[in-house]
Amino acid sequence: MKKLNGELNKFNLAVFISGRGSNLKSIINFSLKKNSIYNVKLVISNNKDANGLKLAKKRKIKNYVINFTNSKKLSKKVLLKLKRENIKLICLAGFMKILPYYFIKLYRGKIINIHPSLLPKYKGLKTHERVIQNKEKYTGCTVHYVNKHLDSGKIILQKKIKISKNDTHVSIGKKVLKIEHKIYHQAIIKVLSNL
Ligand code: GRF
Repeated sequence: MKKLNGELNKFNLAVFISGRGSNLKSIINFSLKKNSIYNVKLVISNNKDANGLKLAKKRKIKNYVINFTNSKKLSKKVLLKLKRENIKLICLAGFMKILPYYFIKLYRGKIINIHPSLLPKYKGLKTHERVIQNKEKYTGCTVHYVNKHLDSGKIILQKKIKISKNDTHVSIGKKVLKIEHKIYHQAIIKVLSNL
């Protein structure tokens, strides 16, 4: 990281969301800490009612709602905004859409995602329900690079927790979310350090 006029030249991040935005919140909070090496410059949502958008507005972070029905158009619009903000890393945080392949190729190694399971196990949706149904002893979360296959890119960080006898998919969901908020930041630092 270079210094510009004595100021740290931070890495600019874009966060893509679809809903609640608790991971977005945690990433923003880490970015505001002293000595943070990144800024959240842009929040993009495919859902105008996403709770995370309220937070972006409150923090005065540029935010855009994108219509995902035409993915080609989407990419052009998004690409322009990413360029304009000099975005170095895209973090998908509860983003429920599949990005077009050529977009993924353009940003290869620069798009990461968080998933609430110990990948490669339990790709896709309803992970906690399936984990409980299958009487797993452990679960956790994973931050990985995004490639063209769902939840299949190279793993950056993973954290495991034990499932207790009384856990339900709801209690496990809460426990996993807590650790998501920690490892996403750690994974971002790891990726940025290697750029
Ligand atoms: C998280 O559990 C994340 O792992 C998954 O979607 C959820 C998003 O939650 N991809 P939030 O919107 O960050 O609160």
